Amino acid sequence: MNLILGIESSCDETAAALVTADRRILAHRVAGQEAAHRPYGGVVPEIAARAHVEILPDLIEEVLAEAEVKLADVDAIAATAGPGLIGGVMVGLLTAKGLSLSTGKPLVAVNHLEAHALSPMLTEPGLAFPYLVLLVSGGHCQLLFVEGVGHYRRLATTIDDAAGEAFDKTAKLLGLGYPGGPAVERAAQSGNAAAVPLPRPLVGSAEPHFSFAGLKSAVLRARDSGRYADADIAASFQQAVVDCLLDRTRVALEAASGATALVVAGGVAANQAIRAALTALAHAHDLPFVAPPLWLCTDNAAMIAWAGALRFAGGLVDGLDAPARARWPLDPDAEKARGAGVKA
Ligand code: KG4
Ligand code: ZN
Repeated sequence: MNLILGIESSCDETAAALVTADRRILAHRVAGQEAAHRPYGGVVPEIAARAHVEILPDLIEEVLAEAEVKLADVDAIAATAGPGLIGGVMVGLLTAKGLSLSTGKPLVAVNHLEAHALSPMLTEPGLAFPYLVLLVSGGHCQLLFVEGVGHYRRLATTIDDAAGEAFDKTAKLLGLGYPGGPAVERAAQSGNAAAVPLPRPLVGSAEPHFSFAGLKSAVLRARDSGRYADADIAASFQQAVVDCLLDRTRVALEAASGATALVVAGGVAANQAIRAALTALAHAHDLPFVAPPLWLCTDNAAMIAWAGALRFAGGLVDGLDAPARARWPLDPDAEKARGAGVKA
């Protein structure tokens, strides 16, 4: 059974994993860099790239030791080749190229978004193509219709901020700390979601996309008005995001005929209010709702190894000239969303 080494370094997590084509996760490790970025309230690309250089070689040794395999036992080496912070992407991809060159094992250059989109299949063997994925993370907010390996239709994207970015910025405005998502969710628990009137950008619009920038500005105005408790702002903000995600996903579900499941991926999938709303939406459409375990929703290398395994099985390997890409749309045919192109 094919064994794939996966490497992830596109943002602020350094990760390595060993996964087999029959879904066994022999080892997976994620080294976060939160402490290094916390003083800046967000990810600093240069700090991230340097940290990847320092962490990655040891991490690869560790997963090999934990799985009790040698590099020579690996069938292919998969690494994120984009989209992401270019310095970090280069660190992971060049490491993979070096290993590929020295061992003669083929390289698989993986699109990070593709890895998120395929990740639910790793822990959910019953999941069949096609399915609809809501990918909500700090860098992305997209609805992808996954028809097969290498076949993705982007039904929606954000025209400004990603959902996780909106959580992070709201947390910063309310002084709740970084990363913002979990902090906002915690604060929201003791707040009244109906207390602060906030907009629901693009809800009800025929345009299929997402928008969160206006919501962030409204949070700023609510804070500066001095009329609301932080917990009420957090709860009202979270409810507004839930309403936006739900409305846009409903539109996509109606467009994505034949979908066998609604799947959520990305770090924002940790949010319980969002999960509950999506579960209800899926069930209203008679579809199963699939949420991979949280560790698989956030950035990790098992999903890179798994996407690598699927691509390798289909003969999709790459040369040592495979480029690192800051931007790499999964669906190059997707219509440009106004103001977009920035995130993916
Ligand atoms: O997928 P991820 O680990 O990294 C990328 O952005 O690729 O996602 C991180 C994002 C951050 O914006 C973080 O604030 C958000 O996911 N997040 C959450 C929650 N936990 C993490 N957002 C809302 N509620 C949460 N519980
Ligand atoms: Zn990600």
